[in-house]
Amino acid sequence: MRIADFALERYFARWEFAVEHVACASDVEGWSMAELLELADDETRAMWAGLRLGYTESPGHPLLRREIAALYETLEADDVLVFAGAEEAIFCLFTTQVREGDHVIVTWPGYQSLYEVARAAGAKVSLHALREEDGWSLDVDRLIASCRPETRMVVVNAPHQPTGMLPSVGEWRRLASACAEAGIRLVADEVYRFLEHDGAETLPAGADLDARFISIGVMSKSFAMAGLRIGWLASRDRAVLDACARLKDYTTICSAAPSEVLALIGLRARERVLERSRSIVAANLAVLDEFFERRSDVFGWVRPRGGSTAFPRLVPEGPAGASADRFCARLVESTGVLLLPSSTFGFGDSHVRLGLGRVDLPAALNAIEQGKADIGPS
Ligand SMILES: Cc1ncc(COP(=O)(O)O)c(C=O)c1O
Repeated sequence: MRIADFALERYFARWEFAVEHVACASDVEGWSMAELLELADDETRAMWAGLRLGYTESPGHPLLRREIAALYETLEADDVLVFAGAEEAIFCLFTTQVREGDHVIVTWPGYQSLYEVARAAGAKVSLHALREEDGWSLDVDRLIASCRPETRMVVVNAPHQPTGMLPSVGEWRRLASACAEAGIRLVADEVYRFLEHDGAETLPAGADLDARFISIGVMSKSFAMAGLRIGWLASRDRAVLDACARLKDYTTICSAAPSEVLALIGLRARERVLERSRSIVAANLAVLDEFFERRSDVFGWVRPRGGSTAFPRLVPEGPAGASADRFCARLVESTGVLLLPSSTFGFGDSHVRLGLGRVDLPAALNAIEQGKADIGPS
């Protein structure tokens, strides 16, 4: 299999663990083990204390699958297949479900594996561009109009990384109905689900809207436990899960035993876990609103509707200059603050990704303004 480099991961490989502030992370500040274990109930505490480090059940621990299924309206444990992160789930899904010549539509800019694995599997991929001039909203009519007779999948990530796009429930249902009527499988990357801002509604999960649709979930983002590397596919289409399970035999075989128990603890305490994530993101959004109002000379700001990232634009004639690549390079060298230039999404050279989930974001913004960065104080 030949697959293009994952540009964002290559950028992170160079910088992520070498800088003082990762101001562009898409995950939420991770839980400490001590804090997480305090959330355990009697059953999970005993599971943790008595855990043996053998192989685990390949589809995922039955209790974990049951807890994941409870995030959906219509699913049961057997409708869930656990993977090493959403990344492995995406790899197995597109590798098994896409054939040479299939047409696949994917929202863009976006997480590269959602289209790169499909391309590597032989699909003709159309990138469905979200437009800043539309407030990064999902143009459902344009998306439906771009479907062809050979379109096999429509892939939508919402809440969306990096823009924070989130359709209304009505728009989402309209897209789902159009896909179902045309026999197109909707793949919903919902790794930022439950991180809706300012009263925006949580969308019905893709897997709940039609028996052929697929939801992708993970512990990394809304649940703030990226280090567990626990993700999943959820769907009532058991044939898809079965095909993915057969490929998983060649990737990881089964999940890490400690991660399964810790994920179970986190999901059973999900209200508390999500509340923590939402309050970190809300506090950062409030700081950013004020920052962008003050620094409209440097950045154009479309406020995200959900998720833990945003995608501000550089004002070309502003002090940061017109090139996001050059700005990010100067910034990281002079202040130790890492931003992610839009070129890592193959999406021009004018935008940067910001992360909303890390508690040091205010310090990073301060370093950008007060340090030796070239945008200077306002
Ligand atoms: C939209 C989207 N899907 C999937 C993933 C993969 O999640 P994980 O790295 O936890 O496997 C990411 C990670 O950034 C993402 O942004």
